[in-house]
Amino acid sequence: MKKKDKEIKAAPSKLWAGRFAVEADKLAEEMNASIGFDWRLFSHDIRGSVAHAKVLRRAKILNAKELAKIIKGLAAVEKDITEGRIIFTSDMEDIHMAVEQCLTKKIGALGGKLHTGRSRNDQVALDIRLFLKVEIDGIVRLLIKLRKTLATLAKKNIDVVMPGYTHLQRAQPVLFGHHMLAYYQMFKRDTERLLDLKKRVDVMPLGSGALAGSPYKLDRAYAAKLLGFAAVTENSLDGVSDRDFIVEFLSAAALIMMHLSRFGEEIILWSSMEFGFIELSDSFSTGSSIMPQKKNPDLAELARGKTGRVYGALITILTVMKALPLAYNKDMQEDKEPLFDTVDTLSQVLGVMPEMLRTMKVNKKKMRAATVEGFLGATDAADYLASRGVPFREAHHITGSIVAYCIENEKTLEDMTLTEWQGFSGIFKEDIKETVLVESSVAARKVAGGTSKEAVLVQLKKVEAELKKPMRAAKPKRV
Ligand code: ARG
Repeated sequence: MKKKDKEIKAAPSKLWAGRFAVEADKLAEEMNASIGFDWRLFSHDIRGSVAHAKVLRRAKILNAKELAKIIKGLAAVEKDITEGRIIFTSDMEDIHMAVEQCLTKKIGALGGKLHTGRSRNDQVALDIRLFLKVEIDGIVRLLIKLRKTLATLAKKNIDVVMPGYTHLQRAQPVLFGHHMLAYYQMFKRDTERLLDLKKRVDVMPLGSGALAGSPYKLDRAYAAKLLGFAAVTENSLDGVSDRDFIVEFLSAAALIMMHLSRFGEEIILWSSMEFGFIELSDSFSTGSSIMPQKKNPDLAELARGKTGRVYGALITILTVMKALPLAYNKDMQEDKEPLFDTVDTLSQVLGVMPEMLRTMKVNKKKMRAATVEGFLGATDAADYLASRGVPFREAHHITGSIVAYCIENEKTLEDMTLTEWQGFSGIFKEDIKETVLVESSVAARKVAGGTSKEAVLVQLKKVEAELKKPMRAAKPKRV
């Protein structure tokens, strides 16, 4: 009996220590703890706790004085954490227990009343949702800034032509602005995806308890209102164990990174001596420790490279969640590190991108020159014949022979004389010379969504109108 007493005394530090006889193994404690990373949820955890305390007051579990004391205590705990007065250690286990421990130290046993009708299972679900709502708004704002930069670049360079590529081979001339707006469209869809999935993050799980709901009369709608949620979860088992919203966010993040990696790759190519289409500003380039002449596009490379960790995060959470039985399982503690890392990575890359683009030099001459060398008017020559009755296949074949002729005679299409053109087909008239000019090729593509200046300006107008709207919609809802 005496021995057992001693053992019970040896495990006093845990808030859940009631049924335990001996202290946790040190390594086990470290493996179990999430405080090392979930401490960053502290302000959300405290916000959630204040709301829960108010709900407990409504349910008459706390009196007005107790509520005031708890709220004051929580504010003091938040201040202590913000000002670095709390050292988090693994025996605190996680941020939820750490906050409760700190609160109890400040206000005594009353701190222990706060957990009435609540479990860490619904608490952690709440905290991640609160966190993600704020972060989504931040990322949306960064995406909008990037889209604005792309629109400005397109407008500023509206007459700049460049080769458009397929298979990374020069294909047809396009406007540089058209190319920029292609990325605009990707980032627009990314913005919409985030705002759409945010609806499914914006659901309040408190009241789900550990899994079965709460026996107390908790006004869940009141909690949702206090915390600025649009709805409450409909099923307590789902409320504590749903992490779909994290998967959705991470897959939207993976798409954003995929787009950034494609853009990064083009910036890397374009800034090479081989292309020379752009020059990055010194403030967004790095040097080599050994080759003095080097100016490297490291940040664009990192935008491309960091895509790997975001894809990894998505696969991590999908794998963690696979086949987990209902409801909460500790496996789910593994959701936070990939989520935090993804939020940080996205914010960093999206933060750098707009200024890197704004400050880069667009080398119009190099781009224009590259459009002349690659027989980019060949499709236009084929279309010339096709629109005058030649079946397109035949027109394609004739033009192919013209290109072969040019290669053999070291000519561009623009160098061809009318006699040379007519040597291939009598249908060619004087105006073929104008037709194969890069500017004519671009101007001909007036179809909606095409690369002619007219069509690009229509696109740009729509873009500018769009940019006025979502900016307001994405403002974070602070309650
Ligand atoms: N630290 C835990 C997590 O992040 C909080 C929930 C713990 N719940 C439990 N029943 N042990 O998932």
